[in-house]
Amino acid sequence: MARKSDSVFNADKRIRLGIWGLGRGMSFYRACQALNFDVVAGCDYNAHMRERFLEANPGAFATDDADAFLSADFDAVLLATFCPAHADDAVACLEAGKHVLSEVTAFHTMAEGVRLVEAAEKSRLVYNLAENYPFSAAQMYVARRWKEGLFGDLMYAEGEYVHEIRSLAYTHIDGVPIEPGYALHNWRSWLNFHYYCTHSLGPIMVASGTRPVRVVSLPGTQSIPGYPPGRTMGMGTIAPSLITMDNGAVVRNLMGGTTNDVHQFRYWGTKGSAEIGHGLFLRLGGGGGAPKLEVTADWGEMTPLAEKMGHGGGDFWVLYYFARQILFGEPAPWDIHSAADVTIPGILAYRSSQENGQPYDVPDFRNKAERDAWRNDEFAQPRYDVKKGCFPRTADKRLTGRFNTIMKGLLRQLTVYRAYADWIQVFDEVVDRARVVELADALIKVYPDMRRTMRQARRLADAYPRSDGARVLNSVLEAMDEQATGRAGFLERVKKERARLKRKLRR
Ligand SMILES: NC(=O)c1ccc[n+]([C@@H]2O[C@H](COP(=O)([O-])OP(=O)(O)OC[C@H]3O[C@@H](n4cnc5c(N)ncnc54)[C@H](O)[C@@H]3O)[C@@H](O)[C@H]2O)c1
Repeated sequence: MARKSDSVFNADKRIRLGIWGLGRGMSFYRACQALNFDVVAGCDYNAHMRERFLEANPGAFATDDADAFLSADFDAVLLATFCPAHADDAVACLEAGKHVLSEVTAFHTMAEGVRLVEAAEKSRLVYNLAENYPFSAAQMYVARRWKEGLFGDLMYAEGEYVHEIRSLAYTHIDGVPIEPGYALHNWRSWLNFHYYCTHSLGPIMVASGTRPVRVVSLPGTQSIPGYPPGRTMGMGTIAPSLITMDNGAVVRNLMGGTTNDVHQFRYWGTKGSAEIGHGLFLRLGGGGGAPKLEVTADWGEMTPLAEKMGHGGGDFWVLYYFARQILFGEPAPWDIHSAADVTIPGILAYRSSQENGQPYDVPDFRNKAERDAWRNDEFAQPRYDVKKGCFPRTADKRLTGRFNTIMKGLLRQLTVYRAYADWIQVFDEVVDRARVVELADALIKVYPDMRRTMRQARRLADAYPRSDGARVLNSVLEAMDEQATGRAGFLERVKKERARLKRKLRR
C-alpha cells in the first residue's frame, strides 16, 4: 500500500481516538501516529492514570466521567475498561456513535453477547475485538501458510495462556496498589480463568480458519498461595477445556495461573504440523517422523513498526486492522461475530466445569434463532464483593488499608525466597550453578524488606484471623516458611550457605 509521509496508509483522513480505561489503554501509543489516529480524549476513574495520560497527550480531554467522555467529539474508542464490563461499555460507545476497538473479552454472559451483537449489527459502525495474540510474526506465518494449504486440514491444536499474575489481584496494571488498600481488583481478584479464553483460542481460530462448535471442561480446583480464596475463584486456578471446531478438529484450550508461565501453540494438520514456543518449528512431509526444521518469520515491511509494540507485535496489528476498516471498509479479522465465536467458549467452559463436564454446543450468534435460544441467559460466575475486600466491614481501615501494599511486597519477596530455597535443593544438578548463587544474593538483598513485610502481614492476619484476608496472608507466609525465615539468625544462615555454594562452585 502506497504511503503518505510517515503514515502506513495512503490516506489523509485522521481518526480521532478516545481511550476508555487508561491502564492497558495506554499501551497502544507508539503506533497511533503512523496508523492515522490522533488521541484526543481519555477516561479513567484513577487520577494517577489520567495524569499520565495528559502528560503523554497535552491538550487532550481527560475525565473520570464516562458520559462526559462519550459526549465529546471524536470518532472511535479504544475500550479497555474492566473485563466483565466490556459488553455494556461497547454498547454505550456504539450508541454514542463511536467505532469500537474492544479489549478482550467481548462480553461476560450469553445474554450480554446477544445484546452486543445486535447493537453492533444495527449500528453500522466498526466493532473490532483487540485479540492480539494471533498477530505475532510466528502466528501470522502459520496462518498464511495454512491458507496456502501447507498444513492441510486442522486435526488437533493446543493453545496456552498460562500466566501467573497474582499481584494484579491487589494492584493496577501499572503496579500501583489499589485504593482503598483493603479493596480488591475489580475482576482479576475473582474471575475464573476460563473467562479469559481468547489469547489461547484466538490464534488457533485465525490460523486454521475454523470456529468452535462444542466445548467441555472438567474443574481444576488446586491453586497456588497468594490468590484470593475460593476453590475455582480467581485467576489462580487451572482452566483447561476441549473444544470441537467446525471442521471436526479438537482444540485443547489451556488457561491458568500456576508455577510455569507458558504461551505455546502446537498445531497438527493432515499434511504437516507447526509448533510455536521457543522459536517456530514445522514438521513437513505428512508423517509423524517427517523432517522437523526451524523457520523464521517476520512481518515484511511492517516489521519496524510492529516490533516496537507490545505482545509480540500483536498490539500493532489490532490497531492497524481497526484503522484500515474505518478508513477503507476492509474487514478486520475480529468483527463482532468472530468476537462472539472466541468469547463464548470461555463462558460455556466455565459453566461446563461447574457442571462437572457437561458439554455445551457453541451457538453461532450470526444466526438469530441461535441468539434467541440464549437471549435471556444471564448465567455468570458469582462475583466477589471487591469493594468490601477480604476483611470484615467493621475492621480498622488504617490496618486493612495496608493490605494491598503488603500483598504486593509479599508476593515479590515470596518468589525471591522460594527460588533460593528450592533451587539450593537441586544445586548439584544445575548446569549454570552461578545462577543459584545469584539467587542467594537476591535473597540477602531483599531480606530486610521481606522481614518487615512479613511482620506487617502477620499483624494484619492475626487481627482478623477468620477473614479471607487472613487466609491469603497465611497462605503466603506459610509458603515463605515464616517460622524459619522470621527467626533471628536466618540471614546469617543464608550468607553461610552462599559461601558454601561459592566454594563448591570454585571446586
Ligand atoms: N490483549 C492484551 O494483551 C491485554 C493485556 C492487558 C489487559 N487487557 C484487557 O484490557 C482491559 C483493561 O485492562 P487493565 O489491565 O488496564 O485492567 P483494569 O481492569 O485494571 O483497568 C480498567 C481501567 O478502566 C477504568 N474504568 C473502568 N470502567 C470505567 C468507567 N466506567 N469509567 C471510567 N474508568 C473506568 C478503571 O479505573 C481501570 O483503570 C481488560 O479487559 C483486560 O482484559 C488485554
